[in-house]
Amino acid sequence: MHVGIIMDGNGRWATSRGLARLVGHKRGASRVKDIVKNSPNLGVTTLTLYAFSTENWKRAAHEVEGLMKLFRGYMQNNLLELHDKNVRVRFLGDATPLAQDIRLQMEQLSGLTKDNTGLNLNIAINYGGRDEIIRATRSIAAKVLDGTLSVDAITEGTICDHMDTREQADPDLIIRTAGELRLSNFMIWQSAYSELMFPNVSWPDFTAEVYAECLEEFAGRVRRFGNADSN
Ligand code: IPE
Ligand code: IPE
Ligand code: MG
Repeated sequence: MHVGIIMDGNGRWATSRGLARLVGHKRGASRVKDIVKNSPNLGVTTLTLYAFSTENWKRAAHEVEGLMKLFRGYMQNNLLELHDKNVRVRFLGDATPLAQDIRLQMEQLSGLTKDNTGLNLNIAINYGGRDEIIRATRSIAAKVLDGTLSVDAITEGTICDHMDTREQADPDLIIRTAGELRLSNFMIWQSAYSELMFPNVSWPDFTAEVYAECLEEFAGRVRRFGNADSN
């Protein structure tokens, strides 16, 4: 079972309390550990967290810098514990525009945990579904040009194999907190048949109980994948 979470609402959580947006991001970041810890108990084998989109660079420089600081802190504080808990960490998105020290931390975390067999944790940073498709298209086109791939051999599987999520199953459930009813460029290829859920809490208030309720509701969903209803 693969769950994707669009961790939204940190800013509103803070401003509705008269606090700075970054206070909300800090509270949001502190929820991650608990949700990661509870995932295996809930039957989740892959968890993808949308942390920063390719569009989030449009925000004020100090907010972007504050978010980058939180990524650094999260990776530093959780490196050993994630490894100890047998979690395999991968990053989705284009790391190129990120600061060199952040990229090094990302490589260290994914390198250290690459042989772990517990929860698969994907962290999407500077991730955009359209950007991912562009990067996949470029690498497919390069193979066609150098003759290692023929145009007729391009299938759905070829596209999957060139996405950041290669070798991983599509998300079964995508949860977006804080009430917006959209994907905001999250896994637009992989979400073709994902169930969508919009719990009415902001990310800093997303507890293990709310998470469990989402999975319970998911268990009652009927997924047809285009088939006729079996009843
Ligand atoms: C989600 O919270 C965190 C990121 C997008 C990085 P927001 O910052 O989008 O919070 P709202 O939507 O403004 O409340
Ligand atoms: C989506 O949230 C991105 C992340 C949660 C990382 P946004 O807050 O950026 O999305 P919009 O702007 O409301 O669509
Ligand atoms: Mg938002």
